[in-house]
Amino acid sequence: MTAKGLLDDAAFAEVRERLRRNPRGAARLRDELCRRSLDPAAATAAVERGLVHRTPSLLTLRAVLTDELHRRILSSRVYDVARHTPLEEASLLSRRLGNTILLKREDLQPVFSFKLRGAYNRMAHLSEAECARGVIAASAGNHGQGVAYSARTLGIRAVIVMPNTTPQIKVDAVRSMGAEVVLVGDTYPEAKAHSDQLAVRSGLAPIHPFDDPLVIAGQGTIADELLRDAGGPLDVVFVPVGGGGLIAGIAGYLEHAAPSVEVIGVEPFEADAMYRSLAANRRVTLDTVGIFADGVAVQEVGELTFEITRRTVDTILRVTNDEICAAIKDIFEDTRTIMEPAGALGIAGLKRWVEDTGARGRRLVAILSGANMNFERLRFVAERAELGEAREAILAVTIPERPGSFRAFCGTIGRRVVTEFNYRLSGREEAHIFVGVRVESREDADALARQLRHAGYKTVDLSANEMAKLHVRYMVGGPTPAEVEHEIACRFEFPERPGALLRFLDTLGGRWNISLFHYRNHGADFGRALAGFEVPPEQRGKFQRFLQSLGYPCVCEPENDAYRLFLG
Ligand SMILES: Cc1ncc(COP(=O)(O)O)c(C=O)c1O
Repeated sequence: MTAKGLLDDAAFAEVRERLRRNPRGAARLRDELCRRSLDPAAATAAVERGLVHRTPSLLTLRAVLTDELHRRILSSRVYDVARHTPLEEASLLSRRLGNTILLKREDLQPVFSFKLRGAYNRMAHLSEAECARGVIAASAGNHGQGVAYSARTLGIRAVIVMPNTTPQIKVDAVRSMGAEVVLVGDTYPEAKAHSDQLAVRSGLAPIHPFDDPLVIAGQGTIADELLRDAGGPLDVVFVPVGGGGLIAGIAGYLEHAAPSVEVIGVEPFEADAMYRSLAANRRVTLDTVGIFADGVAVQEVGELTFEITRRTVDTILRVTNDEICAAIKDIFEDTRTIMEPAGALGIAGLKRWVEDTGARGRRLVAILSGANMNFERLRFVAERAELGEAREAILAVTIPERPGSFRAFCGTIGRRVVTEFNYRLSGREEAHIFVGVRVESREDADALARQLRHAGYKTVDLSANEMAKLHVRYMVGGPTPAEVEHEIACRFEFPERPGALLRFLDTLGGRWNISLFHYRNHGADFGRALAGFEVPPEQRGKFQRFLQSLGYPCVCEPENDAYRLFLG
């Protein structure tokens, strides 16, 4: 990390020059420092303590200010409520990536995220009168929990304003801690605007989720714990970034206490306000913000957090949602714990960085910032994790429409695990199948597509196609085309192992044309398929005997409502 202070050189030179011209202008100097520096209170203290007057040298001034953040962090009151969380090695990931990967387990805080640190530190500094009136916060969830928990501990009233899009788990958690919840708008800015109005009307003290020196200092206590627990030098710390409070606290502290440790921020591509702000060298307001990683879904980073990050952090990496899902899976494999998407950003960025730089033998830390995962989201995460790891390829392949061509296609794929297979007869010449295949890497996926094309199949790789992944995969089909005759739809279960689908199709033997096929690998020990067969009425008996002889559990449901309404 380049050693940048909290005031840049030009600012220092300007301040020093003013001081030279007017050595008694302490008030003006303080105002100048307030405008430019980390923290108005720190600037005031620096001037009042006479440090600036006595030794108006660049180095001393810089030291006074960085020292102030450091001091605030060391004196913050987070341990009344927060835990000193463990720093654990992720042994599987370390082996896979060839680096020592250490996980800072902020998911183990009482509210399952680090946000408690900053919120409590801020609230522990409220005046008696403020405590008597209570507090208000706008929050996408985790900050709200931090404020609610702190308010309960301190015995004060808390009102939390949240966007309607906040996961229910977070809303319930805040309510269960005794706070009042107000749900407003769809985005954080809408909730924030409402909270600001309410604060003015009600006299409740606003607790900002990130843009407050005491909140930043509270989050910075994580860095102090890191240095205590590291057991050796650290090379890089990967920090999830939303409004920037977490990274400002950590990077601000490390800048002072261990400047050789690099801090890298991580954001989703679709919520990359800090990345864009650093690139533009001014705070940028995003037009749209993706809410998959809801903990970091902010439209604009803080003023203070931007200033500190700008001066202490060189790199912000961006990752896709699929990479975040893959990181959730990696963390699960090492810890048996599920992170929320924002909580897994650090690992997603770390993996991206290791891949980009080819780093080996380094000691890397990822902050696991939170675990307030909405259970319903797990399905999406599990599905996308394989794509994020490039362990699944999604392909559209054109095959001839005739009995046996399915089987021939599966023969070409060989013993690769087929994760998904969707097909609906739509004409008598060609069939378009939607197929998922387990692969080793992106290169392996490319090799598979080449192999299929070489075998004469028109093949389109849809692995990066959001519409295909989110929607089309579930919509292949539609009502029975006019061509389909005498269709019987049956559900099957068969053992899940490499080549299982091929064996299944072998057993079906191409005797009856398959007019519909949906197969989804469940990652468990059996697979499920829905198949439609064209069976003329005079062959029904033969077909039933054939099904019995298959040896797979099978149910034929021509009257099933779902089949009748959408496929039949
Ligand atoms: C789980 C999680 N990770 C990361 C962040 C980002 O923190 P900050 O807004 O301080 O950048 C948040 C913010 O709420 C969060 O809840």
